[in-house]
Amino acid sequence: MKNKCILVGVTGGIAAYKIASLVSSLKKADNEVHVLMTKEAEQFITPLTFQTLSAQRVITDMFAIDFQPDVHHVSLAKKADVFVIAPATANIIAKVAHGIADDMLTTTFLAAECPKLIVPAMNTHMLNNPVTQDNIEKCRHYGMHVMNSSAGYLACGDTGSGRMPEPSEIMDAISAIVEDDRWLSGKKVLVTAGPTREEIDPVRYITNHSSGKMGYELARAARNLGAEVTLVSGQCTLARPVGVDFVSVTSAADMAEAVLSRQNEQDVIIMAAAVADYTPITKAEQKIKKSDGDLGIPLKRTKDILKALGAAKKEGQVLIGFAMETENLLANAREKLLAKNTDFIIANSIADKGAGFGVDTNIVTILSPDAEEALGLLSKEETAEEILKYCLKG
Ligand code: CTP
Repeated sequence: MKNKCILVGVTGGIAAYKIASLVSSLKKADNEVHVLMTKEAEQFITPLTFQTLSAQRVITDMFAIDFQPDVHHVSLAKKADVFVIAPATANIIAKVAHGIADDMLTTTFLAAECPKLIVPAMNTHMLNNPVTQDNIEKCRHYGMHVMNSSAGYLACGDTGSGRMPEPSEIMDAISAIVEDDRWLSGKKVLVTAGPTREEIDPVRYITNHSSGKMGYELARAARNLGAEVTLVSGQCTLARPVGVDFVSVTSAADMAEAVLSRQNEQDVIIMAAAVADYTPITKAEQKIKKSDGDLGIPLKRTKDILKALGAAKKEGQVLIGFAMETENLLANAREKLLAKNTDFIIANSIADKGAGFGVDTNIVTILSPDAEEALGLLSKEETAEEILKYCLKG
């Protein structure tokens, strides 16, 4: 990474002092670095430190009369290749999640269209507060990258998550964004996510435990990499990712129609949805009333969407399926890879702690016709990034 324009927003956390070494490393690597500080950050480290290390005027005050006209917030925002906020306090995360622009840092941040990286650093309880977690989720929803904080001893005396990653790790994350971002530009990626609902009568349906998280993370990751993304989603409670074409479906038949009618224009299709294999033969027009005896509901097979995609796969199209198993994970997954003519199957076992429905982590193994790669325990966001990298980057 060199010759990039990097904006570093520093906010009021004790980890601010570590950003001096980040700025120094970025500058030494021949990048143009502009530091923007909140007034709280100035309590922890002085602008002069950053000014000396970056060889650029540090930006703090929006209304300074000796302000250089060529570095006002819009022109800086326009020339940035990446905007990093580190350390990012709970307060700044809340502001950027909601578009608040009340100082130079937040105003420039709102005006910037480049990739953005948030590096949270705060007390464990503040980080774990559902409000902060929702705000972090919102930042991701709007396409910002958010680094996971590390765990350990915190300056406040608590031990837990909330520690800022080391400057070298932040540097790696910036390089990954600046160099790799957008490598899926020009590609069309369709992702399915969530459960399907098969109606029994006007009040009941058959479904499964899928939350849609893995598919939504894949859609976001592909969007962040520049792909034109279509997300075909069963009914989930998750926020719709911005910047993707969102198609809401209910049943397996709806999903089949939505996916198969779009197959031809896609470069990549990822079937992360948990599609029902069976649906009631008939949907009762009226609510089924109970009687004394047992009740059987005759079911018929739904279309296997992935198999249909595999049968009609066009030249160069990449098909990625999932296999959720409770036993014989790899053998069953390999069987699906062959039977459905896919390029990759992402296998996971709900027997593994930290994998499967509802949780924010996953443990997957990627299978291709001639290889196998176990990813280990990762967040679903990281799992999505690794899947795209492994399957599509070559
Ligand atoms: N799938 C599909 N259409 C279906 C069922 C599944 O496209 N009617 C896709 C899923 O989205 C997933 C892959 O097929 O990508 C494997 O799904 P899974 O439920 O693990 O396996 P099944 O093929 O349904 O087989 P089984 O239920 O016997 O494990």
